[in-house]
Amino acid sequence: MPGAHPVGYRGAVLTPTSSGGLVYHDDAVLIVSPEGTISGLAPLAEARGACPLIHDLSGSLLVPGFVDAHLHFPQSRVIGSASGPLLTWLERVVFPEEARFRDEPYARTVAAEFTEACAARGTTTVGAYSSSSPRATEVLFEALHESGLRAVAGLVLMDQACPEPIRLPAAEALAACRELALRWHGADGGRLQVAVIPRFAISCSRGLMEGAAALAAEHGLTIMTHVSENPREEAETLHVHPWAHDYLDVYEQVGLVGEHTLLAHAIHLAPAAWDRLAARGAKIAHCPDSNFFLGSGAMRLAEARARGVTVGLGTDVAAGRSFDVRRTIAHAYDASLLTESGATPAELFLLATLGAARALGLPDHAGYLEPSKDADFAVLARPVHAAGEEGALRVATFAADLAPVTRTYVRGRLVWSRR
Ligand code: GUN
Ligand code: ZN
Repeated sequence: MPGAHPVGYRGAVLTPTSSGGLVYHDDAVLIVSPEGTISGLAPLAEARGACPLIHDLSGSLLVPGFVDAHLHFPQSRVIGSASGPLLTWLERVVFPEEARFRDEPYARTVAAEFTEACAARGTTTVGAYSSSSPRATEVLFEALHESGLRAVAGLVLMDQACPEPIRLPAAEALAACRELALRWHGADGGRLQVAVIPRFAISCSRGLMEGAAALAAEHGLTIMTHVSENPREEAETLHVHPWAHDYLDVYEQVGLVGEHTLLAHAIHLAPAAWDRLAARGAKIAHCPDSNFFLGSGAMRLAEARARGVTVGLGTDVAAGRSFDVRRTIAHAYDASLLTESGATPAELFLLATLGAARALGLPDHAGYLEPSKDADFAVLARPVHAAGEEGALRVATFAADLAPVTRTYVRGRLVWSRR
């Protein structure tokens, strides 16, 4: 909690609005209540009356904290391990690394690196996959709790088609997931939430997926998984689950697709599958850097937009090569050009903040700076040549190199600052 009085932060402000627009103030004061919520966005003269203390961040740009809708904590140390397309990369790089997280001290060290890496890039909320180790997932929650970050995170469920050290039988996995939910779901006034994460259809038995759907319904948990990332993966999925008509149908038949479901990738979905996904109210984590790195393809953002499907951006570390959501925005722009999806920088900024917050089921807390919302924001050092609204939008989207993050706040608490 910031203190007994409201605190002001003076600077330029760029934020999405709840109606999906964008507002820009060249010089304003963001007023943060002692509880860590935003109590106003006011001109300096007005703010002086409300705040005994105003931090002068003139010359900086305040934006809502970035929301990373999809990334993998236990892959933090294998960013950049290029070794082929999805299934080969999982086998050669990811599964051996995730097996190391049975070692608690290792998990603890990497969890601290993970939270620091996110906060240092202005990310205030993460949709984070852990490994299949319940202990490592507990360690992740402890690190998230300590870091001050907001998170929807969980144990990765996988009970088949994977190396023995990371396989967790369905009953054990579901019991561990339930325990995590009882301990962490809603912790610190809702800052931490537990998700149910069947990794992807190949590595999950039908029984595990049905149990996961039931558990999510019972505790009101968000479901996160991967869908339609790679054609070979899709063929293998239908080989493993021959009762399904297509990839999405696996998840539909076991009850995993609904309003609280966040599906990553969705690159190769047929138009009819997009229609089904939209009708069920499922959300998409768009991970373009990962999609390029693994040669998976480019998601057609226009398919989602045309159907009103909620989309958030995800770095997808470590198939994504950076924790920096602004780098993901840049790749999302490139993917949009390739697929003729017509995304503007303003739309992509929205997907990296409010869109991703909505995708994670957190619209009331994160993603935009408006009165009564939690004060989750990042301060960007803005170069003088990036003036006005146009300059602000450039630094908030593509110019991570020119406008580094200097401070990151969640609920008005400083969670990271540049030394
Ligand atoms: N599909 C199943 N697991 C993974 C993963 O760890 N990363 C990506 N990109 N896709 C997956
Ligand atoms: Zn992923």
